[in-house]
Amino acid sequence: MSPLHVTRTLPEDATDAALRADVLHGLTEMPKWLPPKWFYDARGSELFEQITELPEYYPTRAEREILATRSGEIAAASGARTLVELGSGSSEKTRYLIDALTPLASYVPVDVSESALTQAGRALIADLPGLDVHAVIADFTAPLALPATPGPRLLAFLGGTIGNLLPAERAAFLASVRTLLAPGDGLLLGTDLVKDEDVLVRAYDDAAGVTAAFNKNVLTVVNRELGADFDPDAFDHRALWNAEREWIEMRLRSRTAQTVKVPALDLAVHFAADEELRTEVSAKFHKQRVITELAAAGLALTDWWTDTQGRFALSLSVVR
Ligand code: SAH
Ligand code: AVI
Repeated sequence: MSPLHVTRTLPEDATDAALRADVLHGLTEMPKWLPPKWFYDARGSELFEQITELPEYYPTRAEREILATRSGEIAAASGARTLVELGSGSSEKTRYLIDALTPLASYVPVDVSESALTQAGRALIADLPGLDVHAVIADFTAPLALPATPGPRLLAFLGGTIGNLLPAERAAFLASVRTLLAPGDGLLLGTDLVKDEDVLVRAYDDAAGVTAAFNKNVLTVVNRELGADFDPDAFDHRALWNAEREWIEMRLRSRTAQTVKVPALDLAVHFAADEELRTEVSAKFHKQRVITELAAAGLALTDWWTDTQGRFALSLSVVR
């Protein structure tokens, strides 16, 4: 069995410094906000996996349907020998691509969550002992250094995670992805599509309260890493559809007026009663917006597939 290679592209204290900077910045702005990447400690990654099983959370099932039916076409169009996956999480749906892309030389999952990467990497190697799995612990919003592996490369960004970036971040991200691609390489992008508001809001405010626990987990991360004294029970989970921006916003609403201390930053943060902290946006797309944003980064759409209910799309751009 080949060993699991794990590369950390940033020193551990860089994560700490980035969290400090984001908390200082986001909690001193009005309205207050935090970037969603801080959800994903081991508990947050576990809660996300539970979300993917919820009856209300359709994106994972919709994307799995596309991958299950189209991976052969994707493999034929890309001919990739290396599959790079950004925000790979459990790599569960990726198995359809790995199985179709034979003979695949290397799989390079990239994620901020070390626990998700090692768990997924070990499971893959156990099942596919010949596969070279080179996991990279990195922030995909920063410039990426990928291991030298055989081309062509297919870079997959699944799950609709691109929707968790703000528009300017998305543009910068796609432009930076383009610089990683040589002629013959491709980008496989998963995007959740605009649909009925009720369906969208229910997907982010499930009856069992798993998404609420996921949302509040960011407070637990800030407590643990920066010594803050957030009481997660003093906040309510909120999911709202912003029709103008075409994104879901997750927020945490302070139940009362309260002051939270963040000792590592020597900071006291005041929340008014009912004040909301934005923790995530999850943008939803129309086909034209995907085409336009890809084009702005110098990428052309080669193929577009949706699930049978038209809820989610996978787009492929192969560089000529
Ligand atoms: N692709 C999987 C997981 C989606 S959850 C799926 O479709 O089910 C989003 C994943 O992206 C998580 O594993 C999280 O840890 C990772 N992630 C979020 N922000 C990130 C960032 N800035 N850099 C790297 N990984 C990130
Ligand atoms: C990872 N990402 C695509 C998920 C989403 O749907 O935006 C994260 C999530 N947030 C709440 N539920 C799931």
